[in-house]
Amino acid sequence: MSQRTPTPDEQGNEQPALFYQSRLRRPVFDRAEGIYCWDRSGKRYIDGCSGAMVSNIGHGNPRVLAAMRAQMEKGTFAYRLHFENDASETLAQRVVAKMPAGLDRVFFVSGGSEAVESCLKLARQWATVTGQDSRYKIVSCFPSYHGATLGALSVTGYTPLSRPFLPMMVQMPKIPAPTCYLDRDELTMNERGLRAAERLRETILEEGPESVLAFIMEPVGGASTGALVAPDSYYSRVREICDEFGVLLILDEVMSGAGRTGRFLGADNWQLRGDLVALSKGFAAGYAPLGAMVADGRLVEPVLDAGGFQHGFTSAGNPLACAAGLAVLDELDTQDLYANARRMGSMLKARLEELMQRFPWIGDVRGKGLLLAFELVADRQTMAPLPRELNAYSRLVEHAYERGLIIYSRRTRGGLEGDHFMVCPPLIIDAAQLDELLGLLGESLAAFANEAGLPASNAAA
Ligand SMILES: Cc1ncc(COP(=O)(O)O)c(C=O)c1O
Repeated sequence: MSQRTPTPDEQGNEQPALFYQSRLRRPVFDRAEGIYCWDRSGKRYIDGCSGAMVSNIGHGNPRVLAAMRAQMEKGTFAYRLHFENDASETLAQRVVAKMPAGLDRVFFVSGGSEAVESCLKLARQWATVTGQDSRYKIVSCFPSYHGATLGALSVTGYTPLSRPFLPMMVQMPKIPAPTCYLDRDELTMNERGLRAAERLRETILEEGPESVLAFIMEPVGGASTGALVAPDSYYSRVREICDEFGVLLILDEVMSGAGRTGRFLGADNWQLRGDLVALSKGFAAGYAPLGAMVADGRLVEPVLDAGGFQHGFTSAGNPLACAAGLAVLDELDTQDLYANARRMGSMLKARLEELMQRFPWIGDVRGKGLLLAFELVADRQTMAPLPRELNAYSRLVEHAYERGLIIYSRRTRGGLEGDHFMVCPPLIIDAAQLDELLGLLGESLAAFANEAGLPASNAAA
C-alpha cells in the first residue's frame, strides 16, 4: 500500500490523524460553562447554537456532573442482556410520563440517527408480524434531515448528503416540506398548510396505500430547513391522513425535542400525537451520547410476542448515559426551562425581526421557542436566494466566529442554494446574555454586508 505524505496545515503543522467532513480547522477547545465556551488561547465564545442544538441546559452543570460522577463510582457499563439498571429504568418511566397516552415504551440508543433507524425498523417489524408485509415505504419531506446512516439517509431530503450514496440506498418517496412562507398566492397560511398536507395524501395514493408504512416528519424543522414551522392546520391534517390509511406517524424530535421549542416535544405545541418518537441531542444535552425511541405499546407488544425486535446497539441503555439523561431531565423540570425557552425565544425572535429593518436581505425569521433561524434572500418579494458564490452560509458564520459568537448554518433549498442560520442558544440564557449575543450578531451581519456589497443601515437593532 502506498504511503501518503501528510499535507502541512496553514501553521505548517502536519495534518492530524483525526478528520471530519472537511479540511476546516478550528481552535482547540479548552472549557465551557453556561452559554460560553473558551478555546486554548483563552478566547471566549457565546455558544449561540448549543453546539449542534445539543447543549440545552448549558455547559458544565454541576448537578448533572455530580449525578454522572455518582454513577461512575458504581459502574459505567452493564450490558443490557446481562443486567437491568436503575438509571435506564427510571429514565424510561420519566420519559413515558411526558408523552401522550399510549406512547409507553422506550428503547435507548446513543444518537439521533440510531433513534431514527430504530423507529423505521420497529415500524417495519410491526408490519411484518401483523400481516401487513406489503408495507415498507416511509414517506418523508424534502428538505429534511433524519440522520447519516443509510436507513436514516434514505428518508433524509438534503441532496449533497445523499447524492454519493444513492446507488446503495432504497429510495423512499418524498413530499415537499411545508415551506408555506415561500408560497406566493392568495391563500391564507392555514389553507396553505392544508394544501401541503394534501401532498402526503396524494403521495400515499400514488404509491399505493398498502405499500406505505409510515410518514416521518420534524415537527419543527431542524438544520435542513432552518427551524421551519408549518401552519397550524398542517399538523392535525397530517394525523388525519395517516389514520385514514393506517400509516404510522414518526416524529423526529431529535432536534425539536427535550424542551427546545418550549414544550417537551415540538409536537406538543400542536397536541400532535405520533406513533413513534425519536429523541436525542438535548435529551442528554451533550453530557453523554444518548438517544431514545419512544413507541406506542401497540406496536411493541406484537413484535415482542412474535419473538423479539431484531435490532439493538451495544451501548443501549448505558447506565452512565442514562444517569446523565435523568439529571438533564431534572434540570429541565426543576428550572422550568420550557418556560424560559418560550420567554427568551419570543424575545430573541422579536429582536431578530428588528434586524430585518437594518439588513433588508434578511428575508425570514422563524421557529418556535429557542429553535429559531433567519434566512437571507436577494429579494424579499420573490424570496430568491442570494447568489451562491457569496457563500453567505459560511461567510457570516466566520464573521461571527471571529467575534466570539457561534451560530450554525446550512443551505436552505435542499442543500443547493439559499442561506439560513440557526440561533439556538442554551435554554438557560437570560435577557442580558441575549443582548450580548445580538450585539455580536449585528456586528457580524454588518461585516458580511460590507464584504458582500449588500446594503445595511446603521440603526442599532
Ligand atoms: C432532526 C434530526 N434527526 C436526526 C439527526 C441525526 O442525529 P445524530 O447526528 O445524533 O445521529 C439530526 C442531527 O442533526 C437531526 O437534526
